[in-house]
Amino acid sequence: MNRMHFLKAGSLAGAATFLGTNTAFAKNLADNSIDKLVDANGNYIQPALSYSESFLEPYMDAETMHLHYTFHHGGAVKGANKDLQMIKKGLDDNNLETVDFWTKKLSYHFSSHILHSIFWTNLINKKTEPSGDLLKRIEKNFGSKERLKSLISETFKNVDGNGWHRGLSTLQR
Ligand SMILES: [Fe+2]
Repeated sequence: MNRMHFLKAGSLAGAATFLGTNTAFAKNLADNSIDKLVDANGNYIQPALSYSESFLEPYMDAETMHLHYTFHHGGAVKGANKDLQMIKKGLDDNNLETVDFWTKKLSYHFSSHILHSIFWTNLINKKTEPSGDLLKRIEKNFGSKERLKSLISETFKNVDGNGWHRGLSTLQR
């Protein structure tokens, strides 16, 4: 299989096969009815939120939720669909420079699609603290939850789309 065949097969497979079916994340997505990152045709889709945009108040206001859902997540899904079309066109035109360019764009948009999908299914509207097995695992692997928060905050500063760092800081208050 040469590079073009690999890219073509990979892009046609779409995101549906990107995630394992037996992971906690996949189960979470399925349980929360937001398991469809792509439709039957392989186009990226944005499922409706399973709660209102004011659900997270006072921790996150409805305007911020609207911004993240409509513009960040929605923009990422639209962008990913355009990127995929441009990759297919580049492959049809045998233009691998174009394929490389749009594959980088797709990587950014698709990761935003996944991260926002995780975001919507991991939030509740009351403050909670890790407990039980989760707390034990945090303490075993990171020393303490405070150290884990610190590591996440420091690491996210250098990540593309590091608004996630600011979002996490907001939720920690
Ligand atoms: Fe966002």
